[in-house]
Amino acid sequence: MRLVLVGPPGAGKGTQAVNLASHFAIPHISTGDIFRSNLKAGTPLGIEAKSYMDRGELVPDEVTNKMVKDRLSHDDVKPGFLLDGFPRNVAQADVLRAILAEKGTPIEAALELLVDKNEIINRLSGRRTCKNCQRAFHIQYERPSKDGVCDGCGGDLYQRDDDKEEVIARRLEVYGEQTAPIIDFYVRDGVLLSIPAIGAVDEVTKRAIDALSGFRSKN
Ligand code: AP5
Repeated sequence: MRLVLVGPPGAGKGTQAVNLASHFAIPHISTGDIFRSNLKAGTPLGIEAKSYMDRGELVPDEVTNKMVKDRLSHDDVKPGFLLDGFPRNVAQADVLRAILAEKGTPIEAALELLVDKNEIINRLSGRRTCKNCQRAFHIQYERPSKDGVCDGCGGDLYQRDDDKEEVIARRLEVYGEQTAPIIDFYVRDGVLLSIPAIGAVDEVTKRAIDALSGFRSKN
């Protein structure tokens, strides 16, 4: 399965990506997670990315495309992969198409998660993220067993700098202006699938797996 997850900030891409990657036994590649890991490690890439992320802007394409091209050259993507947060504009979608065309392995499905704006704001403002493994929790909807501690790895939970109200507003604008056009891009390629991403996390996962499995058996 070669899959792209599309949806606004807070739609639940990262949450669903973990479940879907496990179900299909493929690596989960999140460009946001890669930037945050680099920032934590203090690399030049992380420091450069932070200046854009803190403002809710996209990291420049030349930086992001190079990073993704490198990641897609690793052996673990041979059985497939799930991209979360990439592509984020039509130029990135073109680059991804070219990288995969060289290998003869095009995207099989682009799964769009549909969530309304009020729900997005609730989800992002209550999100708490693990400093260590980046798993997302929510102070109301997805509470960790112990406050402030990740259920998965025991790491500390924190609030992302870009989950502040003013940055959320800019991220939503950037999504509408720059990312939403990739929906039409994937419609034209005949690979777009859209599902409502509301309800419990496991219900959304089941909806996604059913939609993807049905789509695969038709194609
Ligand atoms: P990135 O990390 O990709 O952030 P994003 O796309 O804005 O998405 P989020 O991580 O905010 O949300 P999500 O959809 O993963 O939701 P989640 O599962 O956490 O990017 C951050 C920044 O990096 C960008 O702004 C940009 O600067 C840079 N960047 C990244 N990729 C780039 C690229 N390709 N090009 C250029 N720049 C790039 O869920 C949200 C919350 O909701 C959580 O608290 C969760 O517990 C909760 N939740 C999830 N599902 C449900 C549910 N069903 N019911 C109730 N609550 C739920």
